Amino acid sequence: MSKIFVDACFGKETPYTPVWMMRQAGRYLPEYMKVRAEAGSFLNLCHDPKKACEVTIQPLDIVGVDAAILFSDILVIPHEMGMDLEFIKGEGPVFHKPIKDEADIDALLGGEEAADKLTYVYDTIKLLKQELPEDKALIGFTGAPWTLATYMIEGKGTKTYNLCKKLIYSNPELMHKLLAKVTQVVKHYMEKQILAGADVVQIFDSWAAALEKQAYFEFSWKYMVEIAEYLKEKYPHIPVIMFPKGIGQYLDDIYGNFDVFGVDWSTPMALAKEKLGDKYVLQGNMEPCRLYSKEKTTACVEKIQEVMGGKRHIFNLGHGILPDVPVENAKHFVDECHRVSKAK
Ligand code: CP3
Repeated sequence: MSKIFVDACFGKETPYTPVWMMRQAGRYLPEYMKVRAEAGSFLNLCHDPKKACEVTIQPLDIVGVDAAILFSDILVIPHEMGMDLEFIKGEGPVFHKPIKDEADIDALLGGEEAADKLTYVYDTIKLLKQELPEDKALIGFTGAPWTLATYMIEGKGTKTYNLCKKLIYSNPELMHKLLAKVTQVVKHYMEKQILAGADVVQIFDSWAAALEKQAYFEFSWKYMVEIAEYLKEKYPHIPVIMFPKGIGQYLDDIYGNFDVFGVDWSTPMALAKEKLGDKYVLQGNMEPCRLYSKEKTTACVEKIQEVMGGKRHIFNLGHGILPDVPVENAKHFVDECHRVSKAK
């Protein structure tokens, strides 16, 4: 059976425009909070394929999205490369011993050996393949090497990225050494997600906008394209989605073999269509905070539909859904995407 989401990723005509939401499995759902409480912690939940499978499926049943995104986190990758990870309440993710020098990079587990430690992710995917309805696609994912490196070097979320940028501008070779090592792990990790059953993969570059243009292409985009091209060469039937957040000013320079470009909420959809719409299917891009108002949600969905015309498009938010969004508003967004695209 063909999956409407996969067809849409390849730019094929579909009966309506599919929709999913970044971070759709999460704290805005009381059902998620219940399973997380049973698991004891967020990381326990990631490590438990049965529970991770359950929360992956929740948004399909509750809000009606067209695709499931594997429940896990981008930071399990550096964690399995040997970095001690903790999610601290109110603070977010923390690596207690961030990367400081070349010896720290050399000490990290690399390549397939690191990817092999993420068996709980592949087990979750295998379980999901049994549980998901046949017409729903399963999205696997990774963080971009740059976004992962920001956490590995800073030890936690940062507003200034000063430790990362110090490395970029004072010792670029060392930064490249770290990024290349992470890239090798991610290639194997994505490949193993595909072999376990992921139908589509997305690369999240959440902190793309921290870099000036030249640095962005040298330290981030290059590695994302290397991963995408490795996967497209071996698995051409698996769509690859790139999501570099906040780089609307750099669209003229986007290149590479992938299928879908994720447009963030700060980039006008019409601009993305003009610059990239012929080459790539576009995904996005409602400002997630519009979910606080049903009217503002409807207005935005209608505007996006007007720009894209139901062609070469996947509806999504322009970044992740926030924890205090009412569930009924999230459902309203999904329903409106289906309504406007079925009426086209
Ligand atoms: O539904 C889905 O999208 C799948 C699950 C998913 C999570 N994290 C679960 C999660 C995905 C795809 C991610 C990706 C992720 N993780 C990114 C890239 C996407 C983005 O939003 O930019 C980033 C930067 C991270 C790192 C991360 N994980 C942070 C900064 C935090 C804390 C901040 C926050 O949102 O609370 C997390 C924790 C996290 N990852 C939660 C969830 C559901 C919240 C943990 C909890 O339940 O308390």
